[in-house]
Formats: sequence, structure tokens, C-alpha cells
Amino acid sequence: MSDRQTDALGRLWPAYGLDVPDGPVVPADLFGRRAPVVLEIGSGMGDSTAAMAAADPDRDYLAVEVHTPGIANLLDLADRLGLHNVRVAQGDALSLVSGLPTDVLDAVHVFFPDPWPKARHHKRRIIQPAHVALLRSRLRPGGTLHCATDWAEYAEAMRETLDADPELVDAYGGFAPRPAHRPVTKFERRAITAGRPVADLLYRRR
Ligand SMILES: C[S@@+](CC[C@H](N)C(=O)[O-])C[C@H]1O[C@@H](n2cnc3c(N)ncnc32)[C@H](O)[C@@H]1O
Repeated sequence: MSDRQTDALGRLWPAYGLDVPDGPVVPADLFGRRAPVVLEIGSGMGDSTAAMAAADPDRDYLAVEVHTPGIANLLDLADRLGLHNVRVAQGDALSLVSGLPTDVLDAVHVFFPDPWPKARHHKRRIIQPAHVALLRSRLRPGGTLHCATDWAEYAEAMRETLDADPELVDAYGGFAPRPAHRPVTKFERRAITAGRPVADLLYRRR
């Protein structure tokens, strides 16, 4: 980690970070207010989370990530931008989601999740039927599940999985146009350079 990231982690983790607990997670307690909550799964270096939270101060952003330097970087970005609507959980996203109350999330973002391209590893993918049912159960009715990937086969598999969930409705009847509010991250830039098209998928809970 850079000195800046080490410093941010030391100073800010106690107030803005949490280890994914075994038990319940109450967003209003984490943020000290009741506001719509966006869950950012696999926030990476935190660039998207920080930019979206800065542009959207009336919603709270809960990021979950396993990678310590990425968490430290997000804490540093949030500090530099003076954000009070960001919290970062370290650990497994699905364990965190299991601890959330039902109907609590305004949106779930899954941007550039690990594609696990080999067929024998597909079971590790975050977007698969049982995980989607769990994520969707934590969305409020009308809340959105937004996924983005540059892996074409995963994009098709995501669409098939999301279409098959009876409680989700495809907001665009197909892949969604790229939304301007989703910042371009390193992963998207790399995909563009390599000529891989990026797919966005936007579904609403009934
Ligand atoms: C390809 S990166 C994308 C990062 C970011 N969303 C972006 O667009 O720049 C995927 C991230 O998901 C994280 N991740 C993978 N499995 C996870 C899990 N079970 N819980 C939380 N984060 C996870 C990885 O550590 C990695 O940072």
C-alpha cells in the first residue's frame, strides 16, 4: 500500500470501516441516518464508489471488498472528497448481504465482477441464481440491480440468470445503455483498449 493508503486506513477505518460480521448489519446504524442505501459489491480501488457517492449525497453508499489496498484507497478518496455517505465493509459480499434486513437497499451495483471464465469456475461467479435471489430479497420493491461486465459470455449468462428471476424486471428489455453516472474505471478502460464491449444490465425488483 502507498503511504497515503496506509495513513487513510489507520485514521479512517475505525469510523468508516467494518469487518463483515457473522450477524445482522443495520445500515441506519452504520450511517447514523435513514437514507436510501446503495450497495457496491467488489468496489475494487473505490473510484466508482467515491465518484457516485460524491454526486449523490442524499443516498448512502456501502461498499464491500476483500482487497485491503482497495479499501484503503476508497477511504482516502472519501476523506479527500469530504464524503460522509460512504462506509466500507471488508470481507465476503454474500455474507454481508445475508446480514442485511430484507427490503433495505435502494440499489445494488455489481460492476466488473471477476468473470471466472473457465466453465469449472462458473460456480464462483457472483451472478448466479441463488445469489441473485439473495441480493434481490434485500432490495426494496422498485429497487435496482445494476451489473456491468466486459466479458461477453458472462454478460449473456447474467442476462439469462436475471431474466429467470420471477421477482426482477428488465428495465430496458435487453442490455441497458451505458449510464453516465457509472464512472469509467481501470477495468472498463482496459476492456475498451482491448476492444471488448462493455454490457450494462439494469433490473428492477417488482
Ligand atoms: C474486477 S474487480 C472490479 C472492481 C470495481 N468494481 C471496478 O469496476 O473497478 C472485482 C473486485 O471484486 C472483489 N471481490 C471478488 N469477490 C468478492 C467477494 N466475495 N466479496 C467482496 N468483494 C469481492 C475483488 O477483490 C475485486 O476487487
